[in-house]
Order: sequence, then structure tokens, then C-alpha cells
Amino acid sequence: MNILSIAGGQALAGDIRASGAKNAVLPILAATLLSDRVSTIENVPHLHDVTTMLQLLGQMGASLTVDEKQTIEIDPANITHPQAPYDLVKTMRASILVLGPLLARYGTAEVSLPGGCAIGSRPVDLHLKGLEAMGAEIKVENGYIRASASRLRGAHLFLDKVTVTGTENLLMAATLAEGETLIENAAMEPEVVDLAHFLQAMGAHIEGIGTSSLKITGKTSLNGTRYRVMPDRIEIGTFLVAAAITGGSIRLNGSCNDALESVLIKLQEAGASIETGGSGADAWVSLDMHGQRPRAVDIVTAPYPGFPTDMQAQFCAMNALADGVSVVTENLFENRFMHLNELARMGADISIEGNRAIIKGKPSLKGAPVTATDLRASASLVLAGLAAEGETQIFDVHYIDRGYERIEEKLSHLGANIHRKALPGPA
Ligand code: UD1
Repeated sequence: MNILSIAGGQALAGDIRASGAKNAVLPILAATLLSDRVSTIENVPHLHDVTTMLQLLGQMGASLTVDEKQTIEIDPANITHPQAPYDLVKTMRASILVLGPLLARYGTAEVSLPGGCAIGSRPVDLHLKGLEAMGAEIKVENGYIRASASRLRGAHLFLDKVTVTGTENLLMAATLAEGETLIENAAMEPEVVDLAHFLQAMGAHIEGIGTSSLKITGKTSLNGTRYRVMPDRIEIGTFLVAAAITGGSIRLNGSCNDALESVLIKLQEAGASIETGGSGADAWVSLDMHGQRPRAVDIVTAPYPGFPTDMQAQFCAMNALADGVSVVTENLFENRFMHLNELARMGADISIEGNRAIIKGKPSLKGAPVTATDLRASASLVLAGLAAEGETQIFDVHYIDRGYERIEEKLSHLGANIHRKALPGPA
């Protein structure tokens, strides 16, 4: 079993480079299934979830070539098994992203039903309802979604809730459907935009990119293409909070500053000096806390451009050490406060009322053994550990490897005292 051990108290300082976005690369890899030509994806982060998606594609029959520069070539010419089995889907809910492409391209798909997860029940009803409106026949039996359609047809879809992977599945399916599809109340997350740009590069016809109303005119086939994945705004945000919580000063190169706006505004409210510059692949963002303790900030999570739920846990860790009282409201997932109990083990003063956490900032937290419960929860424990007095040991670190590339290496580079240790016992 691996743990992360952190000796807290170092103010982070220095420069690092952001990795490619997990939540953009996963739908983009799934979208390569829409063509029978080779696609080449650059800036692919080395993450567990990416490995799972590649395993899925490989198991279906795609040929994959990975080089050391994190560029992956996918040849989907010989897909023989349009299926996503339970053993892979259970490790990554985002496996559902292959449903739309498989159905649109092969007329059939069998995808294990993703179960609940640590942060809530997370249904996929809106994905299925949309595909049915496009003419798919869908049965859910024996834990599997079995979908078929001779050719999907365009439809007017209104999503009852803003769903990121739901929008992505329907957008991908619509690129090969007959006629026009309108997706209203679509998610506007930057990763949806990145997927849409990838689909355009494959030859798809999409209007309204970046808005809540996407209009897609279906094509009979799409090409392969070469595409560079956008930077990971959640990774960048997490490192900025790491600097803020330790009173440090860091710069992230290869940033995506527009996509980070709501997070940067909250960091400024907490007392950080933020600077941004450059453009495209040379964009950067820096944060300087001038050695000060952060001020408490209220957070309300919402779909983009609102404050991202994927940054909520990290801000809870910062608020636990901030000057003042804050209220953090989680509006997307019903069970996304599991990290709060662990933060309390480190001395945080937090009470929960429904979907609101009331956090009374303390001048210090104490290192403790804590357990990661999901990806972003584990990030919040790392942040708390960086700022706590003494040693923090984080158990179940496999969660963090799902979404953060070389986290201990990057944090060490910024001066943190963090090590991965193998403990005797099961892996
Ligand atoms: C994606 C992100 C995840 C992020 C989340 C919200 C990926 C791979 N994951 O997850 O990191 O936390 O967006 O920004 O991109 N819902 C339904 N029915 C559905 C689909 C969703 O009721 O068919 C509900 C969910 O339970 C949740 C809300 O809609 O309450 C938003 O979920 P959704 O945007 O779909 O999250 P994911 O796409 O799974």
C-alpha cells in the first residue's frame, strides 16, 4: 500500500508547467472512435484515468502508439468489440463517454452502467434520453446499457440539467447523425469547448461552441486529425491554492487563464496577488501571497462559468486555515463533503448543514493520518498537509493518481516536503 507523507510548513515557491486536462482528454480520446482514420493527440497527461480510457479503446480493437512526449496515436480502423465492460467502467465513470461515439459510428454499443460513486448517485438518464430522442433503442439490462440504431437522426434536445459528459456524449453522437441536432441547456465548460474544437478538426459541423445552445449538422463520416489538449484548469487551480495556503509565491506556465476566471477571482478575494500573461501555449499565471494567511471566502459551486465543484474541496482546505468564517455551498453533487471529516481530524472547525459547510478558519492545522475518499478530496488533504504542523499521512492515494500527474514531483519542485512511501500490506 502506498501513502503520501507530507511534512508541512514550507511556503511554496517557483515555476512549474501545467499538464493537459483530464476532463478534456477523456472525451477527445473517446471521440477518436467517430472516425476510421488515425488521430494524434498531444499533451496527454500521464494519469490513471487516461490509462483506463486507452485500455477501453485497446480492448475494442483500436491500435495505440504512445511516445515519451505524451503524444498518443489512435488507429480505430479495426474496432471489433464496441463494448465497455464492467471491470473498466467501475474504475472510471467517464467510460460512459464511449457510448455516443460507438452508437453513432457502429450502430451498436454495450456499456456497463456506471454505478454510484463516492460523491453521489450520478445518474446517466440524460445521456440515454438524448440518444433515444435521436432514434436509438436503449435497454438497460443485467447492469449494461445496450443501445442500437441503424443511423441516429438529428433532434431538438433540451437537457433538464446541465451535464458535462451528457452534453459531450450527445454532441459526439450528433456529429454523425442524419440532419441537424440542437442541444439546449448544454454545458459550457472549457473542456466541452475543447472537445468541440477537436470534433471540428475532424470535420464536424458545429455552431454555438462555448454557448448553452449547440447546433450540429451531421456528416456521413469524419477524418482523423492532430490535436493538442488544453491545459488542466483544475490542476492549475489546485497548485494556486497550494501556494495560497502556504503563504507562497508560484508561477504556472502553459495556463488557460480565461477558463480559470472564477477561481482567480476567489483567490484574489482571499488576499492573493494574481498576475497573468502570455497567450496560447505560452500563457502563464502567477500567485503571490506575500507570506500572508488567506482570508476566508464564501464559495457556491455552479456549472461553468460558475465556481467549479472540482475546486470546492481545495477551497475548503484553504478556508479551514483562513482568517474568518466561510460558507461553502455545493450545488452539483449531494455527497461531496467527505473530505470535511478528514480535515476535521487535522483540527479544522467545520459544521455541515445540508449542502452547506460552515468553516471557522483556524490559525493552524495539525498533521494526522487521513484517508482520501475521491479525487478532489484527496487534493484537499494534500493541501491541508502542506500547511499543517508536523506530518500528514494520506492513505488511499490511488485516487490522486487518477487526476494529478506526478503531483509529488511537482510539489517537491516547488519546495514541498512530500514523499510517496510503500507500507507493508495489500497494494
Ligand atoms: C463532469 C466532470 C467532473 C465534474 C462534473 C461537474 C468529467 C470526466 N467529469 O462529470 O469532474 O465534477 O462534470 O462539473 O468531465 N446528472 C443527472 N443526470 C445525468 C447526468 C448528470 O441527473 O444524466 C446530474 C448529476 O448527478 C450532477 C449534475 O447533473 O448532479 C452534473 O453532473 P455532470 O455534469 O453530468 O457530471 P459528469 O459529467 O459526470
